[in-house]
Formats: sequence, structure tokens, C-alpha cells
Amino acid sequence: MKLVAALVILTLSTPAVWAGSKGDVQAGKAAFTTSCKTCHGLTGEGNPAIAKALKVNIPVLASKEVQGKSDEDLKKAIATGTGKMKPVQGLSSRQVQDVISYVRSLAK
Ligand code: HEC
Repeated sequence: MKLVAALVILTLSTPAVWAGSKGDVQAGKAAFTTSCKTCHGLTGEGNPAIAKALKVNIPVLASKEVQGKSDEDLKKAIATGTGKMKPVQGLSSRQVQDVISYVRSLAK
């Protein structure tokens, strides 16, 4: 029930975001190219050389595992890092939203 309440509040407080005008996929692609591509590859398949260097499995961004995460989870991974991924600096909150939209577009 708490979750439902939180969703209702989110829906009411940020109608523009929830009405389908989320981030801009093209702008997100540009930001992704600058900030994420080195490690994740342009289509999110992961860069094997980086994975080897960091001794970590870079999750495929189009995978169910990653797509099953909420936008909040993704935002948090970008802002505060996750596992061996360091926080990504230099993105505005708008750009983070755009990048998330781009990551979502990889699933289709
Ligand atoms: C320096 C390399 C590097 C950069 C740059 C980088 N990532 Fe990552 N990312 C990783 C690694 C490594 C992991 C796996 C972390 C682990 O499991 O320890 C990861 C994991 C993730 C995950 C999965 C999160 C989870 O909780 O499972 C997402 C989503 C993600 N990255 C998105 C991004 C986005 C979006 C950007 C750009 C804004 C970005 N990453 C930039 C290396 C990077």
C-alpha cells in the first residue's frame, strides 16, 4: 500500500515526467556516448576490455536484469555508483534523465 501511495504522489507531483515526456532519447544517447560508452559500449553490451581490467561482469544494459530496475535505481547507480562502477560525474539531473531514457530505449 505504501508503494501505491508513493506512486500516486509521484504521479501527481511530476505529471510532465510521467506523461511520456520523460528524458530525450537522442540527448541521452549523446550524454551516454560521453559518459558511459567507454565501459558499457554504445548499445550497452559492455566493453570486454574494461570488464577484464576491472575483473567484473558488466551487465548488459538491455537485459531483463537491468531493465527490471526502477528509474530511481538507475539514477542512484549513476549518481552514487554501484559495485565496481564509480559515480558518474558531470551530468545534470536532466542529462541523467535523458541517459535513463536512452538505456530504456535499448530494451526495444
Ligand atoms: C568506468 C566504467 C563505467 C562507466 C563510465 C559507467 N559504468 Fe555503469 N557499470 C560499470 C560496471 C563495472 C558495472 C558493474 C558493477 C558491478 O556489478 O560491480 C556497471 C553497472 C551499471 C549498471 C547496472 C546497475 C546495477 O545496479 O546492476 C547500470 C544501469 C549502469 N552501469 C549504467 C551506467 C550509465 C548510465 C553510465 C553513464 C552515465 C555508466 N554506467 C557509466 C562501469 C561503468
